[in-house]
Formats: sequence, C-alpha cells, structure tokens
Amino acid sequence: MKHLLKLLDLSKEEIIGILNLADQLKYENKNGIEHKLLKGKTLGMIFQKSSTRTRVSFETGMYQLGGQALFLSNRDLQIGRGEPVQDTARVLSRYIDGIMIRTFEQKEVEDLAQYGSIPVINGLTDFCHPCQVLADLMTIREHKGRLEGLKLTYIGDGNNMANSLIVGGLKVGMTVAIACPDDYQPDPVVLEFAKEYGDKFIMTSDIQAAAKDADVLYTDVWTSMGEEAESEKRKKAFAGYQINDAVMAAAKSDAMVQHCLPAHREEEITAKVFEAHADEIFDEAENRLHAQKAVMVKVMGE
Ligand code: CP
Ligand code: NVA
Repeated sequence: MKHLLKLLDLSKEEIIGILNLADQLKYENKNGIEHKLLKGKTLGMIFQKSSTRTRVSFETGMYQLGGQALFLSNRDLQIGRGEPVQDTARVLSRYIDGIMIRTFEQKEVEDLAQYGSIPVINGLTDFCHPCQVLADLMTIREHKGRLEGLKLTYIGDGNNMANSLIVGGLKVGMTVAIACPDDYQPDPVVLEFAKEYGDKFIMTSDIQAAAKDADVLYTDVWTSMGEEAESEKRKKAFAGYQINDAVMAAAKSDAMVQHCLPAHREEEITAKVFEAHADEIFDEAENRLHAQKAVMVKVMGE
C-alpha cells in the first residue's frame, strides 16, 4: 500500500490487514510494549481545516512509532498564499517521509500523491474521511466481535462520512443503510460503487426504515467544516435526521452508536443517547490513534 487517499482504492484484505495491525499496536500500547517501527522518520501534517482528534492522534502516534510529526498549518505554509500543490509535493518529498493532509478538495490530495514521491494519507476532505472509518470499523469489530453480516445505519448528511462508511462498510461485508435528505445524497461515484452490492446497500429518506434492526447507528454533524454559511438552511433540511430514543427503538436492542465527533447535542444526536453510548463513542475516538499508527506503518514502513 503506497498511499491512503480513499477507501475506494483499498481491497477488503488491505482494510482487514490495517485493522489487524491496529489491534496489535493497541495491545502493545496498553501493555507498555514499545514499537518504534518508524524510527527517525518524519510526517508532515498539512491542515487547511480545524482538528482535534486527527492532529493529536497523528502527532502522538508518530512519536510512539519513534518518528516525529510536523504540524503545517495553512496559515503558515506558502500553499496558503497560492504555491501550487504540485510544487509543495515535490519540495516536501525532498525533506520528509510522508504527508498527512486535511483539506477541501479530494483532487488536492490526489495531486500531492501524484506529484510527490512519498506516501500521502488523507486526513479528511469534503469527499471522504478514510482514517475515521478505519477507526470506526476497528471499534465495531472490538465491540461486536465481527463485521461481516452486521447492519450499519448512517443518518444525516451524505458527504464525507457517509461516502467513506458506504465504501468501507460494504467492502468488509456489512449491510449499509443510509438515510439522507433528498438534497444531501452521497457522491455519485460512491452510489455507483454501492450498486454492485445489491440489497446490501439501502438508500432511503425514511429514518425508521433505515434504522430497523441495525447493529450500529452512526451520525455526523448537519453542517460540516467549510459549510458554516449554510448552517441555518441546513438546520431546517436536517430536522429529524437525529439519533434519538425512537431511532434506537427501531434498531436491535444491543445496537451500538458511533459518532466521528465533534457532536452537536440535540441536533444530529440527543444528549441522552450520546451519554448512554459515550463509552463506544470515546473508544472510537481513541481508536483513531491505533488505526492511524497502523496506516502509517503500512505506507511509511519498510
Ligand atoms: N473526527 C475527526 O476527524 O475529528 P477532528 O476534526 O477533531 O480531527
Ligand atoms: N463531516 C464533518 C466531519 C468532521 C470530522 C466535517 O467535514 O466537518
């Protein structure tokens, strides 16, 4: 595996391989076993959007693997003043061993990988969030003991999280149900991919139907980063697209809840449901660390 640009590029075996390594690294981490698998290596982390989890987990993860991470903010890099990404890619390739980038357009991430000669990891674009979904799958497998055959239901905006959950969930053998408002559907490329999976993919605006017998319920903010100007319009469009007691009642009695965070209580999820499932949600946040360490070892290791 050279890069992690989007889950569409990975095989089922590659995804499971990352999850297995992540489990091992988590076990070692919890038991004080050092694993300096990226000793002496440097990861550059380009951030064009805010972050708590992605920044801290990549930086800490790189340190635990024996390397170092450089936080490269859009405000300080020449990229923020218009230096082309093609040039940034070629320059960084001369200094460091890998790049993690969080930005708006997927094309920017793909261009970095094309023009540079070092591994590139997508830390979120408007199109997808592969690192998050690897941590989600790791958490679901930890709690449920398997992935194959489970029903994952996502309620909310059909953007980055929905796109990656559809691809990741279907590839590992889950049934994926998506409930989005009509004007906020997943990307056409992802819908085309999902067609191959027949009735394992369910797309509806009926929240109760989507949640029926779900093993995992997932949601994300109504207004993503970069869309703040539309926030009032979105509050109206997404009203009701919420994980609440009624949605939980439609799911299996032992259904778990996942949220990539940050969460907006009483918008996409009620405070009551959030707190009742806080352990699962914060396990998920923790697993960003372990899953990303596995990704870094896969793409930046020998
Ligand atoms: N879930 C996630 O990516 O969190 P951050 O935006 O805090 O990195
Ligand atoms: N959909 C959210 C995810 C944040 C991790 C956003 O893009 O802001």
